[in-house]
Amino acid sequence: MAVVTVHASQPYEVSIDEAPIESAASQAANMGADAVFLVSDDNVAPLYAPRILDACARVGLPCASFVFPAGESSKTFATYAACLDAMARAHATRSTIVVALGGGVVGDLAGFAAATYMRGCRFIQIPTSLLACVDSSVGGKTGIDLDAGKNLVGAFHQPSSVLIDTSLLETLPDRFFIDGTAEVLKYGIIADPALFVELETRLMPNDARIPSIVRRCIEIKRDVVQADEYERGVRRILNFGHTVGHAIERLSSYSVTHGFAVATGMALIARASACAGFCSEGDARRVEKVVERYGFKTRPRFSASALAEAAASDKKRSGASIDTVCLRAVGAVEIVPMTLDRFARFIEAACADGAGPCRI
Ligand code: GLY
Repeated sequence: MAVVTVHASQPYEVSIDEAPIESAASQAANMGADAVFLVSDDNVAPLYAPRILDACARVGLPCASFVFPAGESSKTFATYAACLDAMARAHATRSTIVVALGGGVVGDLAGFAAATYMRGCRFIQIPTSLLACVDSSVGGKTGIDLDAGKNLVGAFHQPSSVLIDTSLLETLPDRFFIDGTAEVLKYGIIADPALFVELETRLMPNDARIPSIVRRCIEIKRDVVQADEYERGVRRILNFGHTVGHAIERLSSYSVTHGFAVATGMALIARASACAGFCSEGDARRVEKVVERYGFKTRPRFSASALAEAAASDKKRSGASIDTVCLRAVGAVEIVPMTLDRFARFIEAACADGAGPCRI
């Protein structure tokens, strides 16, 4: 369907329905790999790992694997350490190519293992969730969570290749599909009013629009990553709704998954942006409506003070200030540094429904 090239510090191709996932094996062989090390979770591995293992055998590459229990609660130092141990036991070298087969958790953890094992080896992303296809597999963010917060340990480490097969999304349980639509909506809200309009007609599993929408999201992400690979500025717009989202995830002990939490975060920030005069009431309402239409909650079940406290350990904080991505209009956002107090007032205003315009 399409190949999108990301010109980051290391350029790479994102293939969308152009090559089967098995081509990870021939790509690894062409990259001079001495072996493949496959990382996956126990939901995805039974479905697709044999296809990669067989393909490696066909091109004569040894392939060891590490499979861990699915879910954000596995994105820990313990799982990461176990993955590195498994790589060492398999005699992986710097020439071994790690293949991340799974959703965002697998990609983040496998990518971080690849970034750090023997000071870094190459890796290929095969995202199997909608969220991973449109967001986490592209851009080189890798990492794990700490008790103190999400993604607090990690590295920027670009993949050597990303292989997307959107037909794999057909087997995704509905809940995981819906979870991924939050990041899809994000791209419309932050950068593309036409995409937003298209998404106002709800995207469904097996929707014929999925490949072209995945491609559009990746093109937006490519442009942002090329402009600011290490998130010193504009890349922060990709965190729209994420500070509140990460707080919801952590306060719920990760029972609220990433997309559901971020969607609620986006609705809340849109409302707060309208309250504070950054955007019109109409634009905030459009964002809230679309969030509702996809089955997400527009208000968190946690208090503004709990969210603000949890946000204080967010990566976007610097000293007493936190970079908040505010809504300007549908398709446009602005990064506004706020003191933690101002941030607390900002989201308090949104949590207090019907409070009307406020000054923060
Ligand atoms: N998921 C946000 C980013 O890659 O920057």
